Amino acid sequence: MSNTIIVGAQWGDEGKGKIIDVLAREADYIIRFQGGNNAGHTVVIGDQEFVLHLIPSGILHPGKVCVIGNGVVVDPQALCDEIESLQKRKITIGSNLKISDQSHLIFPYHKILDQLRETHLGKSKIGTTGRGIGPCYVDKMARCGIRLADLMEDEVFQEKLGDNIHEKNEVFQEVYGHPGFSYEEILESYQGYREKIKLYICDTVRLLNDAIAKKKNLLFEGAQGTLLDVDHGTYPYVTSSSATAGGACAGTGIGPSKIGRVIGVAKAYTTRVGEGPFPTEFDAAQMKRIRQKGNEFGATTGRPRRCGWFDAVLVRHAVLVNGLDEIIITKLDVLDEDQTIKICTSYQYQGKRYDRFPANGKILEECEPIYEEHPGWRQQTCEISSFKDLPINAKKYLRRLETVVGAPIKMVSVGSKREQIFSI
Ligand code: IMP
Repeated sequence: MSNTIIVGAQWGDEGKGKIIDVLAREADYIIRFQGGNNAGHTVVIGDQEFVLHLIPSGILHPGKVCVIGNGVVVDPQALCDEIESLQKRKITIGSNLKISDQSHLIFPYHKILDQLRETHLGKSKIGTTGRGIGPCYVDKMARCGIRLADLMEDEVFQEKLGDNIHEKNEVFQEVYGHPGFSYEEILESYQGYREKIKLYICDTVRLLNDAIAKKKNLLFEGAQGTLLDVDHGTYPYVTSSSATAGGACAGTGIGPSKIGRVIGVAKAYTTRVGEGPFPTEFDAAQMKRIRQKGNEFGATTGRPRRCGWFDAVLVRHAVLVNGLDEIIITKLDVLDEDQTIKICTSYQYQGKRYDRFPANGKILEECEPIYEEHPGWRQQTCEISSFKDLPINAKKYLRRLETVVGAPIKMVSVGSKREQIFSI
């Protein structure tokens, strides 16, 4: 296996957790490079379900090194909770977990600000996960963020925290009428987290580059998805990080020349959580049916996901901006009962046809999707374990997806379990 990046080719929740779990067998290192505990990567092993928010999904494989890269924002409370809950379930966490000393810390004021901003935005809210992700990245870019390396130096940490709280409290009190935060309380709790996580913190840039020099296999685990990327997604209804393949290099300190393969994961239909345009969104009846069949509820917030037909304009965009070599299609089985299955191949807006993803959000909000209709297969696929055994209409649907998105499909997943996946 060459060093491989896995990214979501839609709006997140494509089933990347399961794919990482499957591909992790061949990898030595599994690395998160962006986002934080806004992610929810679900892996089902036997009758046990694991939902990972911050720790790479590879942690479920003994002997793999899991890395939280510099591009990730870390909520230490969420991290400690996740470590503890995995350990309770007999998952070993020790020298197999490494966290970058350059990654930024999420503080309580980030979380509250995230929630206050959403309330303030009212109808125009983004529908964030409320985990403080956006405000933490704002501080990173404004160059006032606090990194794990700072947490390790008590004097530096105290000074940076003091400066931040002083400034934040003014904003909270003046703009939001919020009482603000106690320096002492935050200091004490973060000093406590430091004791719990310090053994994992290291220079992961060096660690990973050394691993590459030793010909180890690296698997980069993208979170969210291309259409939630801050540059390439449906801005402003996006997350605040680079969820596309380029983010893997910036978010780990690995040069692009060291990457061998980029794989995009897409569902056989489309979903999104939160606000923002969604051209192929289902009507209420179809939404209810697919949501139930596909168990489309957010793994992090439990919010019902919005569902719609496969949108090839979006996935073509993902193929382009990520340079996808291959696609993996998940949840094909969810469409087993549909009589007719639609693929959106372009949009129509004010008499003009759009084959490419438009940056203008108004077009996405108001366009008419142009659909192709395909006959469904009306047959259960969850026990099928090879492409040749799929119903003919399912094969045709997958082949058509390859053509309209412009990338080969390499694997198909037909259920949440580890074994419900096969190569093409
Ligand atoms: P934030 O990342 O919490 O700031 O949320 C910004 C947008 O990204 C919202 O629409 C969220 O619902 C969405 N989002 C964030 N993380 C995920 C994810 O892991 N899956 C799907 N949507 C996500």
